[in-house]
Amino acid sequence: MAEKIKVLISEEEVDARIRELGEKISKEYEGKQIHLICVLKGGVFFMCELAKRITVPVSMDFMCVGSYGDGTKSSGVVRLAKDLDESIENKEVLIVEDIIDSGNTLYYLMDVLRQRKPASLRLCTLLDKPDRRVKDVHVDWTGFEIPDEFVVGYGLDYAQKYRNLPYIGVVEVAE
Ligand code: IMP
Ligand code: MG
Repeated sequence: MAEKIKVLISEEEVDARIRELGEKISKEYEGKQIHLICVLKGGVFFMCELAKRITVPVSMDFMCVGSYGDGTKSSGVVRLAKDLDESIENKEVLIVEDIIDSGNTLYYLMDVLRQRKPASLRLCTLLDKPDRRVKDVHVDWTGFEIPDEFVVGYGLDYAQKYRNLPYIGVVEVAE
């Protein structure tokens, strides 16, 4: 099976939007330090680019929560594969995620993190597929709302491939 990638959001559009988000977030947190939490592996490209556009002090930590196998459908089961290295107590925590689909992952993750008593807990996602939502998750900043299509690039994978594409694309599988 051959796969083709159709560009959905170009590199320029993604970069411009991340710049805007960085400005908005910097204003919102003026005078504070943001503790960015990257949801691995998908969130890593977005977090690095976003962090570069934030002008208030930033610290970072990483965690890995999985609900996906190698396919394009959610298993619905969320597991904590790698926990944070540092405590988030009294920190201004901003979760940085690649995409919110069913909402299962973030619903679980925000519940876990809320119990650790951060000063604040907010969420920034590069992409959102609102049509697919099963769990109600409050998103503070969204890069782009997209239709219900399986996308790759900018950290997002299809069977671990295409994370390194500098744009967001849709996988077209030709038999
Ligand atoms: P949720 O728990 O259903 O919201 O799924 C969230 C996770 O599923 C994301 O962090 C991604 O890793 C993965 N995912 C959801 N939709 C896509 C997609 O279109 N392409 C690649 N990964 C996706
Ligand atoms: Mg993810």
